[in-house]
Amino acid sequence: MSSDTKTENSRGGFGSKIGFILAAAGSAVGLGNIWRFPYLAARYGGGIFLLIYLILAITFGFTMMLTEIALGRKTGKSVLGAYKEADKRFAPLGWLAAAVPAIILPYYCVIGGWVLKYMCMFITGNGGDAANSQFAAGSGSSLTFFEHYISLLGQPTLFFVLYVLIGSVAVLLGVEKGIEKVSKILMPVLLVLIIIIAGYTLTMDGAMDGLKYYVLPDFTDFTVTKLLKTIAAAVGQLFYSMSLAMGIMVTYGSYMRKSDSLEGSVRQIEVFDTAVAFLAGMVIVPSVFVFSKGDPAALNAGPGLMFITLPKVFDSMPGGQIIGAAFFLLVSLAALTSSISLMETVVAAVMEKTKMSRSVSCFAVIAFTIIVGMLSVMGYSVWSDFELMGMQILDFFDFISNNIFMPILAFFTCILFGYVIKTKYVEDEVKVNGDKFRSVHLYRIMIKVFCPICMIIILLTPFVTDI
Ligand code: PFF
Repeated sequence: MSSDTKTENSRGGFGSKIGFILAAAGSAVGLGNIWRFPYLAARYGGGIFLLIYLILAITFGFTMMLTEIALGRKTGKSVLGAYKEADKRFAPLGWLAAAVPAIILPYYCVIGGWVLKYMCMFITGNGGDAANSQFAAGSGSSLTFFEHYISLLGQPTLFFVLYVLIGSVAVLLGVEKGIEKVSKILMPVLLVLIIIIAGYTLTMDGAMDGLKYYVLPDFTDFTVTKLLKTIAAAVGQLFYSMSLAMGIMVTYGSYMRKSDSLEGSVRQIEVFDTAVAFLAGMVIVPSVFVFSKGDPAALNAGPGLMFITLPKVFDSMPGGQIIGAAFFLLVSLAALTSSISLMETVVAAVMEKTKMSRSVSCFAVIAFTIIVGMLSVMGYSVWSDFELMGMQILDFFDFISNNIFMPILAFFTCILFGYVIKTKYVEDEVKVNGDKFRSVHLYRIMIKVFCPICMIIILLTPFVTDI
C-alpha cells in the first residue's frame, strides 16, 4: 500500500476502508438508534415514520454526512482547522463544531453509565430488581427503579466514571490501533447480537401483531399537522442518529484514505445505521406490544420506554434475564463507540490547537468530561431542584446542543458549501480517487435548498409544537 493511501499528515489515520466505515458506523449507531428511534416510530404512526425516515436518510442524511466527511478528508484537519481552511470567515463554525461534542460527551457518558448499571444488573441475574422495585418517596408517591437510581449520587457517579475510562482507552491508543481495532470487533458483535435478540422476540406469541403495528402505516386521524410533526421528528432523529453537525464526521473524514470511495462509504454507513435502528424497533415495539397486550399508552412511554418499560418486559418473558443482559450489553457497546467518536473529536481539536501529545490531550479531556459530567449526575440527585430554562442540567445540555447549536452549525455548513465556496469543493473531493459522483444532482439541490430548509424547521420546531 503506497503512502498516499493514508492521510498525508502525521496525525495517523484509518488503515482500511472497512475500518473507516465501521468506526463511522460505530459513531452513528448509538443510544439514538436503540433508545430514541423505537419510541419515536411508535409515537409517530409506525410505518409512516419509517418511510419518511428512509427517504430523508438517503437524501438529507446522505448530503450532510458526505459534506462533513469530504471537508475532513480534503483538509486533513480537526474541525477547528478544517472550517478555517475552507473559508477564513467561517472559522467560528469550527469552534462551534468543537463545542458541540464537548457539551454532549459528558452527559452522553452519564447516560452510558446508567446503561452499564442495567447491564450489570441483568448479567448478575438481578434484572428483576430493575423491573419491579418501587421506592416510596414520601407522601404516598413512589419512584420507579430508574428514577430512584438516578436520584442517588454514589453509584451513578461510579458507573459514569467507569464508562468514561473504558471509552478513553480506545482514544488513548490512537486511530488505527485503538478506534479502528475496537470498531472492527464491536460492530460485528453488535450486529449479530441485535439480529439474535430481534429473532427471539419475534417468536413470542402475539409478536407479529406488534410487528404490524411497527411497520404498517397508521392513517387514522392522519392530518397535515401530524404529517409535518412526523417529518420534523424524523429530520431531528436523522440528525441525531447519523452523528451530524457535531464535528465527528469531519474528524473521522480527516483520517480517511484518499484512495477509498467517499460516496460508497457514506451509503454503507447509512445502511448500517438505519438497519440497526430498524432492528432495535423490531426488538422493542413487538415485545412491549406483547407485554402490554397492545396498549398504546405503554408504546407511547417515550424516553422511559427503554429504562422503565423494557426491563419489566424482559423480566416477564421466558429467558428474559439472558435477553435483558444481551440487550443492555448491546446498548452499552453501541453507546461506547459513539462516545469514543465524541471524545476523539474533542481530543483531535485540543491536540491541534495546543500541540500537546495525544495522551496529554486525552487526559485533559477525560478530566473535563468527568468534571462537567458530574454536573449532570448531580442535577438528578443533590441538585434536583436546580433548573436551567425549566430543565434539569442534563436535559439542558441535550437541548442546547441538539436543538440550537447543531441546526445552526448545519445551516451555516449548507450556506458555506452551497453558496460561498460552492458545491465543487465537495464534488472534487468525491472524485479524487477517480470515482464518478453518481448522486451529484441530488447533492446540489439538497445542500442548496432542501437541507437549509430542514434546519430552519428543526430550529423552529421546539418553539411552535410539542414535539
Ligand atoms: N449518533 C449517536 C447516537 O445515535 O447515539 C451519537 C450521538 C448522537 C451522540 C447525538 C450524542 C448526540 F447528542
